[in-house]
Amino acid sequence: MKLITVRGEKKLYGRVDISGMKNAALPIIFSTVLTRDKCIIENVPNVSDISLSFDILRLLGANVTYYHTTGVAVIDTEPLSKNYATYDIVSKMRGSTYLIGALLARFGSSHVGWPGGCDFGSRPIDQHIKGFEMLGAKVSFSEGYIDAVAKNGLVGGNVYFDIPSVGATVNIMIAASLAKGETVIDNAAREPHIVDLANFLNMCGADITGAGTSTIKIKGVESLHGCTYTIVPDMIEAGTYMVAAAAVGGEVSVNNVIPKHMETVTAKLLEAGVDVNVDDSEITVRSEGRFRGISLRTLPYPGFPTDMQPQFGALMSIAEGVSNITEGIFDSRFRYLEEIAKMGGVSEVVKNKAIITGQKKLVGAKVHSTDLRAGAALLIAAMAAEGETEITGVELIERGYFDIVGKLRSLGADIELIEK
Ligand code: EPZ
Repeated sequence: MKLITVRGEKKLYGRVDISGMKNAALPIIFSTVLTRDKCIIENVPNVSDISLSFDILRLLGANVTYYHTTGVAVIDTEPLSKNYATYDIVSKMRGSTYLIGALLARFGSSHVGWPGGCDFGSRPIDQHIKGFEMLGAKVSFSEGYIDAVAKNGLVGGNVYFDIPSVGATVNIMIAASLAKGETVIDNAAREPHIVDLANFLNMCGADITGAGTSTIKIKGVESLHGCTYTIVPDMIEAGTYMVAAAAVGGEVSVNNVIPKHMETVTAKLLEAGVDVNVDDSEITVRSEGRFRGISLRTLPYPGFPTDMQPQFGALMSIAEGVSNITEGIFDSRFRYLEEIAKMGGVSEVVKNKAIITGQKKLVGAKVHSTDLRAGAALLIAAMAAEGETEITGVELIERGYFDIVGKLRSLGADIELIEK
């Protein structure tokens, strides 16, 4: 079993190289199923969700080579022969949902286990299913599997999402790329990773316009060719280090970022009274570790990202005053506050709202990471706390953060990854 120990109150100084965005890489990796040519993907983060996506493609018959030192993945799905993915492997990761659309577009049918994903409330896929049906597919369910069939191939159609779902937007963009005719997605997700996927697919010969807006048009094409593409930097990883610097104190720069993607995180740190300086591709946070409580609500992009909510919850646990957080995306994403309470944090959660009363200090304790971003929040709390904290559930943190212990240690944190 892995655990992380942190001895807190060590300020952070230095520069962090931000890796490629996990949530942009996953859609692009799975969409290589659409072409029989080789694809070269650069700036792919070395995290366990990505390794799992490569293992899934290999199980389907694809050849995947990943160069850890350069972050380059060479994916050749020409030999890919299976249109099904078993429950035991796809249930480990939400991103494997994208296989439904990719295999359906390539083979005319797909048989994929029900997707997994971090546990913060129900995570239905009704919008994905609705989209496939609007493209002419018949979708049914049997013993934990989703069967999608389009005997005569997919046909472009109009898809309206009741919620701007990231995953459903990705899945329909992938499926519609090879459909006959034009697909229009209304109320589409606008996240940077949606734009990245559209850019990748267009580099492969797709015809997608409007990505980044609420209306995306996809003109189906006969086939896609391979391409070389570089993944955008991870705005959530960058935001996590920015919040860590604000909470613990010091001066930290995150570089090779796209500041526009960080706008809401930057704005909320400034609102809390933290010094943030934004350059072309680098953001620097300076902090004495004191800041005021704020209110925030998570919303679909360009609103405040839900994947930064736990990190801010940790920050607000030691702010001056009371903070209000409203989780506007998921049913319940506040379990990390129960863990921070073990460190002396004070909060009250009612449904999707949390009221956090900032404390002068937290004290180290044994805590458990309940999901990927909750783990990041606990690391932030631990580095700001007095004394030693032991964090279990490290495997969840490694799903989305490359070498977070090494990067934090290089900034001066007294932190250790222990394999027991
Ligand atoms: C993606 O999840 C991300 N995962 C999540 O990041 C992120 O929190 C989320 O988008 C929101 O930004 C990946 O990209 C792999 P949604 P996804 O579909 O696609 C509901 C992380 O930490 N919904 O936009 O599952 C859903 O229950 C992870 O990196 C439906 O009701 O998010 C949720 O309440 C955690 N029906 C809301 O919409 C559907 O068919 C947003 O979900 C689909 C979604």
